[in-house]
Amino acid sequence: MQSFFIHTFGCQMNVHDSQRMHELLCTSGLRPVDSAEAADLIVINTCSVRDKAEQKLDSELGKLKRLKERRADPPVLAVTGCVATQRGEAMLKRLPFIDLVLGPDNLGELPALAHAIAGGAPPVVRTRFDLDDPRFLAPSSEAAAPSAFVSISKGCDERCSFCIVPSTRGPERHRAPAEIVDEVTQLVQRGALEVVLLGQTVNGYRNPISSADGASNGSDFADLLRAVAAGVPALKRLRYTSPHPRFYGPDVVQAHRELDVLCRHVHMPVQSGSDPVLKRMIRRYTRGEFLEIVRSLRQARPDLTVSTDIIVGFPGETDEDFEQTLSIMREARFTGVYAFKYSPRPGTPALRLGDDIPESVKSARLARVFELSDQLMTEHLQTLVDTVQEVLVEEPSHRGGRQLSGHTKRNEIVHLDRVDGVDRGAGIIRVKITRAFKHSLEGQPLDPLPPAGPATRTPVRLNVVQD
Ligand code: SAH
Ligand code: F3S
Repeated sequence: MQSFFIHTFGCQMNVHDSQRMHELLCTSGLRPVDSAEAADLIVINTCSVRDKAEQKLDSELGKLKRLKERRADPPVLAVTGCVATQRGEAMLKRLPFIDLVLGPDNLGELPALAHAIAGGAPPVVRTRFDLDDPRFLAPSSEAAAPSAFVSISKGCDERCSFCIVPSTRGPERHRAPAEIVDEVTQLVQRGALEVVLLGQTVNGYRNPISSADGASNGSDFADLLRAVAAGVPALKRLRYTSPHPRFYGPDVVQAHRELDVLCRHVHMPVQSGSDPVLKRMIRRYTRGEFLEIVRSLRQARPDLTVSTDIIVGFPGETDEDFEQTLSIMREARFTGVYAFKYSPRPGTPALRLGDDIPESVKSARLARVFELSDQLMTEHLQTLVDTVQEVLVEEPSHRGGRQLSGHTKRNEIVHLDRVDGVDRGAGIIRVKITRAFKHSLEGQPLDPLPPAGPATRTPVRLNVVQD
């Protein structure tokens, strides 16, 4: 076994996990290849948050079955991530061409188990949560991507009634602050300009050392933000995703006010603008409380942008409830909305509410959310024409596109014309914004483009599944 290919479905946590698997496999002597056809080990990192993601997975697995049958030297096929936990042993029984099923907490075992299977060992299923001694896979010593993920917690203790994540990723476990600061330091030393702290309810972070005696007062996340800012002064930008509205204390708002390194953008899922729906979703905040957080964040940083996640067609959602969602979009002035049709998930509390909103109504509501979100985004982007923005320019895509692109501290995407054919690296430069499109900006660099860095970005193939 010499080569591997990772296909990633789903969220940023999965992208993070795929990056770590990529590094582990490289360390074990394998090299990445560009397609499943050319690989000796194929890893499918799965998502089960909506039914559609699972359907796509099933069709992908059908293709891989045929690929294995065709090849004289069949590759090892590993299924990792949330569907692995959800289906476990049943997956091997139903789809015996799969060799390895690994849950999110068992990824460290991937290289050894894959090598063993290539050597003739039988199929394996490992989907145990590491509850007693939680492990967080650290990045290897390769050069870092300009924007790097750092996982600060895993699992989720919330019980939003629609969500399968608590059962696929297990109870919440937190990482020690010193370990987090250390990882950020190393990433910055290896070239990262921006770090995104990751957790399912990232602002519900609890310091596992101080909270072991129950002394935590809920401000550990703000303390962590300060510790990262103070401990890694060379870090240019700090982000976090996704915060849960119910853990936004004044201390986190204060951190936004104090820390220049914190980006002027927050992705805060609202899910719905209607209080009765929020209640049935077990989100544990009201529309008014959500808007109050947005208001206080904007008081701290007037130019801060807010993006969100929205579910349409949740059981019992009336036209009036849905209008409340459209109106909170306007009131919060969201720029960036990830919207989904409600999808009933196995084992979730919302199942008992039925799935009573017809598909056609869900589709119509989704279209209206996207229409309004485009309008809000375009209006916002127009206000930036003729301004000068600091843009974190990323290296050109490997597909050889002519354009460089990057993002601002508020997360607007900015395209730059590639001035010549020379390879360019990553860096932060000033850009004069010349045009606004529907979802992005275009501009002229005012500073020299960053020189080419080591060709290092982890080529993880991401397949974002959206409804
Ligand atoms: N706390 C996580 C949320 C993970 S799920 C975070 O880091 O953001 C991502 C999004 O998927 C949710 O915010 C929600 O909008 C959507 N989602 C989750 N379960 C869903 C379901 N059953 N149907 C439709 N959308 C869902
Ligand atoms: Fe899911 Fe709610 Fe946790 S959306 S991941 S149960 S915060």
